[in-house]
Amino acid sequence: MGASDERDWHVVRSAKGKGETFSEIMQRRLSRRAFIKGSAASSLVVAVAACGPAAEPTVEPTAAETEAAATPSAEPTAATAESKLPFTAIDPRPITEDQTAVPAGYVVTPLLRWGDPITSDAPEFDWENQTPEAQAKQFGYNCDFVGFMPLPLGSSSSDSGLLVVNLEYTNPEIMFPGYLDPENTEAPVKTSQQIVDTELEAHGVAVVEISRSADGVWNYDRGSSYNRRLTGTTPMTISGPAADHEWLKTSADPSGKDIRGTLNNCAAGKTPWGTVVTAEENFHQYFGNMGQLPDDDPRKEVHSRYGVPEEASQRLWENFHSRFDVSQEPNEPFRFGWPVELDPYNPDMKPIKRTWLGRFRHEAQTFVLSPSGKAVAYTGDDARFEYFYKFISSGNFDPQNREANMSLLDDGMLYVAKLNEDGTGEWLPLEFGTGPLTEENGFTSQGDVLVKTRLAGDLLGATRMDRPEDIETNPVNNKVYIALTNNTKREEGDTDSANPRAENRYGHILELTEDGDDHSATTFSWEIFMLCGDPEDPSTYFAGFPKEQVSPISNPDNLAFDMFGNLWIATDGQPRTIEANDGLFGVPVEGPERGYCKQFFSGVAGGEVCGPEFTPDNTTIFLAIQHPGEGGIFAEQISTWPDGKVGPRPSVVAVQAESGAVIGQV
Ligand code: FEO
Ligand code: CA
Ligand code: CA
Repeated sequence: MGASDERDWHVVRSAKGKGETFSEIMQRRLSRRAFIKGSAASSLVVAVAACGPAAEPTVEPTAAETEAAATPSAEPTAATAESKLPFTAIDPRPITEDQTAVPAGYVVTPLLRWGDPITSDAPEFDWENQTPEAQAKQFGYNCDFVGFMPLPLGSSSSDSGLLVVNLEYTNPEIMFPGYLDPENTEAPVKTSQQIVDTELEAHGVAVVEISRSADGVWNYDRGSSYNRRLTGTTPMTISGPAADHEWLKTSADPSGKDIRGTLNNCAAGKTPWGTVVTAEENFHQYFGNMGQLPDDDPRKEVHSRYGVPEEASQRLWENFHSRFDVSQEPNEPFRFGWPVELDPYNPDMKPIKRTWLGRFRHEAQTFVLSPSGKAVAYTGDDARFEYFYKFISSGNFDPQNREANMSLLDDGMLYVAKLNEDGTGEWLPLEFGTGPLTEENGFTSQGDVLVKTRLAGDLLGATRMDRPEDIETNPVNNKVYIALTNNTKREEGDTDSANPRAENRYGHILELTEDGDDHSATTFSWEIFMLCGDPEDPSTYFAGFPKEQVSPISNPDNLAFDMFGNLWIATDGQPRTIEANDGLFGVPVEGPERGYCKQFFSGVAGGEVCGPEFTPDNTTIFLAIQHPGEGGIFAEQISTWPDGKVGPRPSVVAVQAESGAVIGQV
């Protein structure tokens, strides 16, 4: 989700579509699983199935629900032998189009939909009977991060694994009938204890075992003992320097370490030791009534810096749970905004909020090992003019001792990025007692610095960026790529060479090279890799590649790399900027095709594209279609994807080549 002040269900209704034609389109396009094609390379076989009736969740291949490849408007062209990404780009799709699109020769299969039962005792999804009890055992709402964790642990299987999926937030206005008044969408929402509690259970994380059958079709295993949901109420604990902070204690939890739930889990990272660290992003939106704190309460300034609403929240959860009412529980917001580590291979593990990684609107964190074996985590604070950071562990990763690695994130140092105009940069330590981070400036301990990470970054003079989203490291060239999704509030005169456009609607991507190619370095160089937008816009830049050949792209969000080091970019916001559905784009970063950005996938009406996640063999890419239909209301849906009825269901899809080839190579 973008910053919540940019996405408001009261005002975003621009994608009003033609949902009534969707089922006709689907009926025409799709036929019951019938199409089989093998591949010597991977024995992949892909099936095409009807969109309805809804798929049964089972490992039986006959239950797969596969959506056919996109509108076959673009015929494959002969790729040059030298091309790093020879697939044929698809055209941008109009914002009313409520089906996915991929190049000819690829298929898209919905794998996990909101409401799909993931435990053996979970009920089937029922639009008319949504309960917190059911939702807690079903796949939750608004999938974002997707992590494929091979099974068994330590293997590089591309046929069996655990899918770890973030479930960022809810769209109650399209989930529940009557939530918004169709005649007056500005009126207060009509919510209830049942709705709020269902929303709480729809948030969090899902761990689901999946496997690829001999015919190449992905299914999930509803009965797997690994399957697990973390929600907005799951017990978790907290570690690191801020764990003992007074401000983490509440009336319900005098220990400060018995926290309920994780919220707004946007993207995440996989650690080298096989855990996942999920990011709490726009946590501020769940709290209300902060303005009722006395002006001399020092917590008020901090909550304000983090955007906690002064008045009622938009969702009104504070009317049903006092912990979301800051006037009653002033400390509860301090228990959010942290990265949370979970072990998908151990469903009994109590998730741990890792305070050394800082407290802000974490987009994600990406883990990489330094040459000496330090765990390094890059992480961005996704709001306008916020900073990006990295954590460096004190200890070294030990490939022989997983248990020891489990505490690597509890000792180290957090740094914030300062980018100089000359293309160099520094990582500035957020170390209590160093520089301005002293008691004279209001910091009382290392934990206090971390609770107030944003304020510490302010004092250090970190570089104010255009909404840092995903940050990923390229395993081939070792560089770091930072998606900056947009910042329409940046004014002329407030630009810098790293954020060079005023009213940056389209976003850009930075390429950062750590000095010595060492991810634990404290100095780096950087350059602009891409200035996004319609290539006809003279302010765009595609690493110098001829612009007449590239696809329009806007609002880069999630990033990934394939095995060749090509960059894959998922977007969030194209409908509002270049008037096309969000999508996935591939672009080489080295050689003569550096900057040759091509669209590979288009999402559906109202939805952004998240993930992306490759299997180790790169023959499948998983994508999360988040908030399909956002911009509608229940009575006036603009999407019914993927089922073709009632309303949209955010879903993870698997994209594969019919031939079984590596993604992007055909
Ligand atoms: Fe949840 Fe910054 O996207
Ligand atoms: Ca987003
Ligand atoms: Ca994101």
